[in-house]
Amino acid sequence: MRRVSLTQFLIEQQRAGRITADLRLLLEVVARAVKAIRVNVSRGALAGVLGEAGTDNVQGEAQKKLDVIANEILLQANEWGGHLAGMASEEVETVCQIPFDYPKGGYLLLFDPLDGSSNIDINVSVGSIFSVLSNPPGPTEPSEESFLQAGVLQKAAGYALYGPSTMLVLTVGNGVHGFTLDTEMGSFIYTNPFMTVPVDTREYAINCSNARFWEEPVKRYVGELQEGRDGPRGEDFNMRWVASMVADVHRVLTRGGIFMYPVDEKIRAQGGKLRLMYEANPMALLVEQAGGAASTGRERILEVQPVKLHQRVPVILGSKHEVERVVAYHAEA
Ligand code: AHG
Ligand code: MN
Ligand code: MN
Repeated sequence: MRRVSLTQFLIEQQRAGRITADLRLLLEVVARAVKAIRVNVSRGALAGVLGEAGTDNVQGEAQKKLDVIANEILLQANEWGGHLAGMASEEVETVCQIPFDYPKGGYLLLFDPLDGSSNIDINVSVGSIFSVLSNPPGPTEPSEESFLQAGVLQKAAGYALYGPSTMLVLTVGNGVHGFTLDTEMGSFIYTNPFMTVPVDTREYAINCSNARFWEEPVKRYVGELQEGRDGPRGEDFNMRWVASMVADVHRVLTRGGIFMYPVDEKIRAQGGKLRLMYEANPMALLVEQAGGAASTGRERILEVQPVKLHQRVPVILGSKHEVERVVAYHAEA
């Protein structure tokens, strides 16, 4: 069978007028960076990349060595191509400007370089998440305000999953498409066209250790799932929690499910756990493009107007009918 590479896929998207040449270059560069991150992730202890970096990021979280390495790889890969006006990263407090000696382009790239850091040292799947915006008209040096655009304005979004195989899953607003890395050939092959999230599911993902801090609507919803066939839902539900958002969302995009990291009493002051600009928004776009839904419980994630770069939001996403039910419980409460 003839194999379609990511390069061919992107060229065809460009010919169809769905992406510009610069956006194609951007996505190619991200894919190249992902291959380099994957090499580091997979070498693990052999390359001395496990463990703590000994530093904290802007959010006060201890950085792992691989957080720092993945961040450097993405920044360096993307700074010289001329397609970007600037970048923003989970690991960097302020806007990352393009070095002055390189040409600037019209796009903004935001990323979570290494998602699921707590899983690195135990050899469980991790990922990278990215979101692409247009740099608004005005000064070419983007400010933090330039990045503060609602998720509906994303030009592209995607993630890499460093699992048993490495996958790149992306959308440019025309469905969700998955690619698997052929490690011997070094190229991403188009393996998962038009990924869809079934509207119904019997699988949920939430960190239940936070149950006592949850808001009433979440307690009610999860409580009903746990009652199974003896409760109001009348059927049993299964539970999964990888603690790498990329892996959990990939499962949802593959066989359905609902994924939740709601706001709770413990994290109320910070607004949630997951970051809007480079975790929630790209995942929300992917899930909506695949026929699912993504909400904070009170509003559509993609319509949240960001007020700061590292803003956090509650996240409830996945199979449409389940997300709608959780939203309804919030409205009733
Ligand atoms: P990151 O490693 O980029 O900081 O993100 C971790 C996130 C996300 O991947 C995951 O869903 C969640 O944190 C897990 O949180 P808990 O450890 O509270 O379950
Ligand atoms: Mn993350
Ligand atoms: Mn991260």
